[in-house]
Amino acid sequence: MRTHYCGLIDEALVGQTVTLCGWVNTIRLQSHVAFVDLRDHEGIAQVVVDRDNADAFAVAGEIGYEYCVRVTGSIRKRLAANDKLKTGTVELLAERVEILNAAKDLPFALHENPNEDMRMTYRYLDLRRPEMQRMMRTRIKLVQALRRYLDARGFQDIETPILTKATPEGARDYLVPSRVHAGQFYALPQSPQLFKQILMMAGFDRYYQIARCFRDEDLRADRQPEFTQLDLEFAFVEEQDVQDFVEELIRHVFKDVQGVELDASFPRMTWAEAMRRFGSDKPDLRIALELVDVADALKHVEFKVFAEPANDPAGRVAALRLPDGASLSRKDIDLLTEYVARYGAKGLAWLKVDDLAKGREGVNSPVAKFLDDAALAALLKATGAQSGDIVFVGAGKWKTVTDFMGALRLKLGKDRGLVENSWRPLWVTDFPMFEYDDEAQRFVALHHPFTAPKVDDIADLRANAANAVSRGYDMVLNGAEIGGGSIRIHRPEMQSAVFELLGIGAAEAEAKFGFLLKALKFGAPPHGGLAFGIDRIAALMAGTESIRDVIAFPKTTSAQDLMTDAPSLVPDAQLKELHVKVAVEPSNG
Ligand code: AMO
Ligand code: AMP
Repeated sequence: MRTHYCGLIDEALVGQTVTLCGWVNTIRLQSHVAFVDLRDHEGIAQVVVDRDNADAFAVAGEIGYEYCVRVTGSIRKRLAANDKLKTGTVELLAERVEILNAAKDLPFALHENPNEDMRMTYRYLDLRRPEMQRMMRTRIKLVQALRRYLDARGFQDIETPILTKATPEGARDYLVPSRVHAGQFYALPQSPQLFKQILMMAGFDRYYQIARCFRDEDLRADRQPEFTQLDLEFAFVEEQDVQDFVEELIRHVFKDVQGVELDASFPRMTWAEAMRRFGSDKPDLRIALELVDVADALKHVEFKVFAEPANDPAGRVAALRLPDGASLSRKDIDLLTEYVARYGAKGLAWLKVDDLAKGREGVNSPVAKFLDDAALAALLKATGAQSGDIVFVGAGKWKTVTDFMGALRLKLGKDRGLVENSWRPLWVTDFPMFEYDDEAQRFVALHHPFTAPKVDDIADLRANAANAVSRGYDMVLNGAEIGGGSIRIHRPEMQSAVFELLGIGAAEAEAKFGFLLKALKFGAPPHGGLAFGIDRIAALMAGTESIRDVIAFPKTTSAQDLMTDAPSLVPDAQLKELHVKVAVEPSNG
């Protein structure tokens, strides 16, 4: 049908007859000539249709944006080159123009920024946009590079089931009713976690899979209900073996796909340090601001907002110094206070340091009057405040303060242009094994329940469960958690003990994970691994905030596919076959 791609014609073709196919990007009709920019996935070619060629000129008069056309003609040099186009030194003089298909009543102009709902409803048009083509190609290249690297190193690509039993990764399951087994359900995998562990027990040693995962959770820019992991598992390894390998893998693909040289060795930080200094378990190291604990300076003040959490082991008082921040207006500060309230902050104290040398006189703050001279001086000293700075102080429960001060740090970094233009990867290690869920009144696993604790001894773990540290690790890049993994439990007794600590009794453990407990009894090797979020890595590489831009057919934040209109109602007959009764009036949205 065609001889060349639009985006690849060049001066070597001058004088030759070629046929191009593509979509009409722009069209300019003049009295004697028509200019059509024809686009395919390689780029754009300028087509010139002379009025002298009456047939072709007539067809050109009929075509509009996004028509699908085929043009045959000869390549010639342009009089004036367009250096914005890759093909800008040449053009095609049309002999024949053929409309392959019309595109009437376009819902939006492709070169304008269409709104999100329009993009999702007409995803095929959205994807035609060169920007989307570029971002999707980054993802394609990333996946190719990952596969090449792993295939060359003997990793075995093994598929695991999609219709399976629940694998808990902290989200709700998507369930699929069974027709054959009335009242029973498959779960879609939240990850291939248990299958990959069992593959290690089955002697496959080094496994990978580009695996689709399904999680029914609240969606955000970096979360989709179905997403893709590069899932990896290794037998006979310890933390360092896995980390060294995957670090090299990431360095390699960044070089290969992006031409970017990442650090020769990624810095490492414990979870506790990350939370203390950055208020996050995925610190964005491109922002130089850091939290400082100031409880010691404020233990004795009368101001209860500070003194109570400062004296409470479960409390936290943290300060954040913003250099040159004294110029923030009351309005700016009010907006920041509203912003942190979304993370549970009951208030946000601040001190503007107009002139450090003047002591209290030089400080402008609604809370300074509640602090004695010693406390004020100690607070300013701890943060290293200079004249012209503002110091924010957050006080309350440890987790709340950590979250909202971490969020404040990111917001200030972004709003004030303090995000360095660089790649800052790191490892976060030494996660707590368990997190106490106040609502459920029990421990939940911080990674997943198959992550090994640092202590080998079950009695030690039981005795000090609240402070137990796991053998989990996350890889973080520019504030995004791009991968997470761990050394796994490989002894059945330890796995049972961990289930028990998580409030999963013996009967429940047997019903849910009996197959795992059994498999662990037959010579399971020590093993560990990690999974990368491919969508997140692709988004970082493509330079977009949202993973939707690197997923061909993503869902909206309300988990809908606006193009196909999923989820949707199904006929009663189908429900009956599946033994499903719908207990609510179906909603229309
Ligand atoms: P985890 O739950 O940390 O670990 O997931 C691994 C990586 O997958 C990405 N990710 C997501 N990406 C897009 N949308 C989502 N909803 C989403 N959830 C997670 C993140 C994350 O780092 N089985 C373990 C891995 C292991 O232990 O080997 C697991 O799934 O980038
Ligand atoms: P209040 O006692 O609520 O009137 O608050 C007095 C000052 O303390 C105000 O500037 C509040 O913004 C600030 N504040 C209140 N709660 C907190 C908190 N949890 N952390 C930091 N500052 C707070």
